[in-house]
Amino acid sequence: MFRLAQPGGFLAQDSDAVARRIFETNFFGMLNMSKAFAPVLKANGGGALLNVLSVASWVNGSELAAYSASKSAAWSLTNALRHELAGQKTQVLGLHMAYVDTDLTRGFDVQKSSAEEIVQRALDGLEAGADEVLADVLTQQVRQGLAAPRPVYLPQAN
Ligand SMILES: NC(=O)c1ccc[n+]([C@@H]2O[C@H](COP(=O)([O-])OP(=O)(O)OC[C@H]3O[C@@H](n4cnc5c(N)ncnc54)[C@H](OP(=O)(O)O)[C@@H]3O)[C@@H](O)[C@H]2O)c1
Repeated sequence: MFRLAQPGGFLAQDSDAVARRIFETNFFGMLNMSKAFAPVLKANGGGALLNVLSVASWVNGSELAAYSASKSAAWSLTNALRHELAGQKTQVLGLHMAYVDTDLTRGFDVQKSSAEEIVQRALDGLEAGADEVLADVLTQQVRQGLAAPRPVYLPQAN
């Protein structure tokens, strides 16, 4: 069983337990890592946190409901940390992407980026001092769709 994602919607019988387990990894794990490293980064002059988010931070269907909710929470955490850590000159980079070819997506019949190209874009963003990296075209389109007259997270007419 995956600790960071599990297929299913919020009305599944076990959704409460699934959501708690996934939030433990994707939200509280990120929170605890940030709290542990913030003083170390401060002592070293600033540094950076790179938080791995997802296009699922912005849209949620019923396939990976708890995972998407945890990524929305992690996105919010990332946005808050960026403000909290600005005073100590710590860069906080949110990395958003759609499908990447890893164990997580094994068996998904969709177009995937390679892990190498996503990491390269993340590191380029880090070097450029960016706040966010939208690492593939689908992610860029979804992000743009948040400002559409009917935003992309609402059901779309066929
Ligand atoms: N793959 C994608 O399409 C995709 C898209 C968008 C965002 N992401 C994000 O990218 C990140 C990496 O995902 P991935 O695709 O590489 O997934 P993955 O192939 O399933 O690998 C996840 C890694 O995280 C570790 N892990 C899981 N739960 C943990 C926990 N509670 N404590 C410590 N380590 C834990 C796993 O360790 P074990 O092997 O020991 O279980 C594994 O090494 C995740 O944040 C994911 O949400 C992935």
